[in-house]
Amino acid sequence: MFERFEPLPTDPILGLSLAYKQDNNPQKVDLGVGVYKDEAGNTPVLASVTAAQRRCHEQETTKAYEGPAGNDVFNGTIAQLIFGADSAQLERVQTLQTPGGCGALRVAAELINKSKPGATIWVSRPTWANHIPLLSSAGLKIKEYPYYDPATQSIDRDGMMACLAEVPAGDLVLLHGCCHNPCGTDLTLDDWQQIADLANRHGFTPFVDLAYQGFGDGLEDDAQGLRLLAGSVPELVVASSCSKNFGLYRERVGALSVMGNTSVAAANTFGQMQSIARGIYSMPPSHGAALVATILTDSALRQQWEGEVAEMRVRIKQLRQDLSAALAPYGDFSFIPQQRGMFSFLGLSETQVERLKTEFSVYMVGSSRINLAGINQQNLPYLAESVGKVL
Ligand code: LMR
Repeated sequence: MFERFEPLPTDPILGLSLAYKQDNNPQKVDLGVGVYKDEAGNTPVLASVTAAQRRCHEQETTKAYEGPAGNDVFNGTIAQLIFGADSAQLERVQTLQTPGGCGALRVAAELINKSKPGATIWVSRPTWANHIPLLSSAGLKIKEYPYYDPATQSIDRDGMMACLAEVPAGDLVLLHGCCHNPCGTDLTLDDWQQIADLANRHGFTPFVDLAYQGFGDGLEDDAQGLRLLAGSVPELVVASSCSKNFGLYRERVGALSVMGNTSVAAANTFGQMQSIARGIYSMPPSHGAALVATILTDSALRQQWEGEVAEMRVRIKQLRQDLSAALAPYGDFSFIPQQRGMFSFLGLSETQVERLKTEFSVYMVGSSRINLAGINQQNLPYLAESVGKVL
């Protein structure tokens, strides 16, 4: 059975970590995998998470199964974090705890395929490298709509809206809630409104991937586009992740929220979501979601966590300014501070990216997507000089 397999190329994003680890150059710079790092280059456990962990450890009374839907308190508080605590839409929203944002995407894809086998989902060009394999392996057909224009380092609005105006009823359109991965260029509220109008006019269903809430302009601000959609369209799918904003990457904490046209439709859909989870992984891991639920339901811990999210956000924003200034002698990089979240494209060719890796030990995704959080005051001059040398 296993003789048939040929070696596969490494994952375009995760594969970079291994190559970086094996590099002995003391000046090496890791701008690859999207993981937040502090000025010292560490990805720390948030203090609010450590405190919640202590509390959960002390108060835990059982390791019995929790069930396919996961932690109810987590599900309720995450729905509020996404849709807004006083959102009128909450009564027709159902949220399922999933193993990370990837788990949410996969359960959503299975759910869509169950309702409409072989449905088409439109993804932005470009989109996160794992969206297409994750969604298509569940049976969905993938089409792309224009999004980022490398010539202007901004959204190709005319191209995007013209394409979305042709999306037929019953298809889905995947939107990045904030901090677009990989390009860092986000939709404006006006864009969200236009997309909501198109969805209503043509009958497609919006599907939002919200993996970086809090990393753009703030926890509330980063959900405004999604909330505008929720208030305008009949049905909405949201895959969200606690990897970045709670720093819980390896704990695999995510959620799939579905907003139905009615609360009954949402409740029936929730049954399907649980049945799909049961059929794939039975139920999500408990630990990380318990930490999130503890933080979000305790006012002191929540305040501490919000402060920590703000600290990460402010650092990334500052790095955007710093990088743009450091690269100024080599070209116009003023677009970097205008973008949001951890990622931007440097606009380099694959050959230039390869040279940065092999000649300078500077690691980034082949598309020249960089993780800004990998920059610090120590490696910034070397990074800028290296980029200058390949330009
Ligand atoms: C990234 O885009 O680098 C992160 O979301 C990590 C991943 O799983 O690809």
